[in-house]
Amino acid sequence: MAPLRITVIGTGYLGATHAAAMAELGFEVLGLDVVPEKIEMLAAGRVPMYEPGLEELLSAHVAGLPGSTGRLRFTTSWAEVGEFGDVHFVCVNTPQKHGEYACDMSYVDSAMASLAPHLTRPVLVVGKSTVPVGSAERLAAKLAELAPAGADVELAWNPEFLREGFAVQDTLHPDRIVIGVRGERAEKVLREVYETPMSEGTPLVVTDFPTAELVKTAANSFLATKISFINAMAEVCEAAGGDVVKLAEAIGYDERIGAKFLRAGIGFGGGCLPKDIRAFMARAGELGADQALTFLREVDSINMRRRGHMVELAREAVGGSFLGKRVAVLGATFKPDSDDVRDSPALNVAGQIHLQGGQVTVYDPKGMDNARRVFPTLGYADSALAAARGAEVVLHLTEWREFRDLDPAELGAVVTDRLILDGRNALDPGVWRAAGWTYRAMGRPRA
Ligand code: UGA
Repeated sequence: MAPLRITVIGTGYLGATHAAAMAELGFEVLGLDVVPEKIEMLAAGRVPMYEPGLEELLSAHVAGLPGSTGRLRFTTSWAEVGEFGDVHFVCVNTPQKHGEYACDMSYVDSAMASLAPHLTRPVLVVGKSTVPVGSAERLAAKLAELAPAGADVELAWNPEFLREGFAVQDTLHPDRIVIGVRGERAEKVLREVYETPMSEGTPLVVTDFPTAELVKTAANSFLATKISFINAMAEVCEAAGGDVVKLAEAIGYDERIGAKFLRAGIGFGGGCLPKDIRAFMARAGELGADQALTFLREVDSINMRRRGHMVELAREAVGGSFLGKRVAVLGATFKPDSDDVRDSPALNVAGQIHLQGGQVTVYDPKGMDNARRVFPTLGYADSALAAARGAEVVLHLTEWREFRDLDPAELGAVVTDRLILDGRNALDPGVWRAAGWTYRAMGRPRA
């Protein structure tokens, strides 16, 4: 039997990584995007965003590159995709709707509508995007109606759990694979795709459409809840004089709780957790189950409060007003090892201080271009040292390794005041204090 030929529609973090990983597993892969510039970059082996390890994987497989397997190609042609693929993975973005909690399904809808007329033989379409529960059922009917092969086109839902910054690792070595199917054929085909020597030992959960869709939103809601829980504890620690870092360590030793995702600080951001919990609440409301998820409103509100709290701590630290004060901000991305500034707590804090009259200078190892595009009126510097020059307060807002490795003495020589606020509880207070800094963090006692 000839090996399955795979297409990947949408080449963002998810699609570009999935396409490269499928080529790594030995499949012939064709990636499609509607943005020609992205396709040109990928076809030249370059990644349109910062994602560790992805460029190496592309170089190993993109057709035409020296020494590559040639298994991975890119196109903007739907007809070519329809002609080529036995399995079509749909990996397009589902952002938050403008001014609403609900999820914007227009990219998924339009990808399915563009693909369908080219499906002339029995193939499998696999949705990987994060969607409101009920979408798969609706899309399956749409595909059957629009595709020339009609009901011979099957749909499956296969949510993705990769983290930005670890996309390659998470795709090649997932914790679990979840597939929502209606028939045995879809399950058989997806087993052929995923049951490779590399996935040996990885649990495969086979379920129905709604459960598969819900697994993704439930997982992200749980993660968001865990972060807001520890941030709520940080608020209480601050009021009571406790130390949330010690508290997290101590509760994390209980295996039922677990130590991960208990880092208190300025909270979660990015293109996934915030919009996913909001879309989940909106969908539950449509289903008449809104009461089940009212706690997510609190999770969201604790999270947003963190940003405001950081701004208040900084304002208090500089004497009650930002007017005329120089503030250095270390970090702009929503987390380290990414260039993504979507809904970034760091950039939000920097922006609030700027709007309150502070002279903000931002430095981030990888997020500068995106930050400048989103917030052009902030000041930017090309190193941590340059950002800190003359600063009355330094804010550490994204925990890049580079910032943990900073020499407090060197930084101390260029600032006006040796005052650092650690919005990620990631620096070593002892080291900074020993170098003469006033170090303050969130949910920890002041020395
Ligand atoms: C998240 C999920 O972790 C992935 O499993 C999921 O596949 C992905 O969303 C998605 O839906 O596509 P990601 O957005 O890349 O991944 O980022 P996370 O590593 O989850 O971090 C999210 C935010 O939480 C960051 O701003 C991070 O700084 C913050 N965070 C994380 C904390 O504030 N404290 C923690 O303990 C952990």
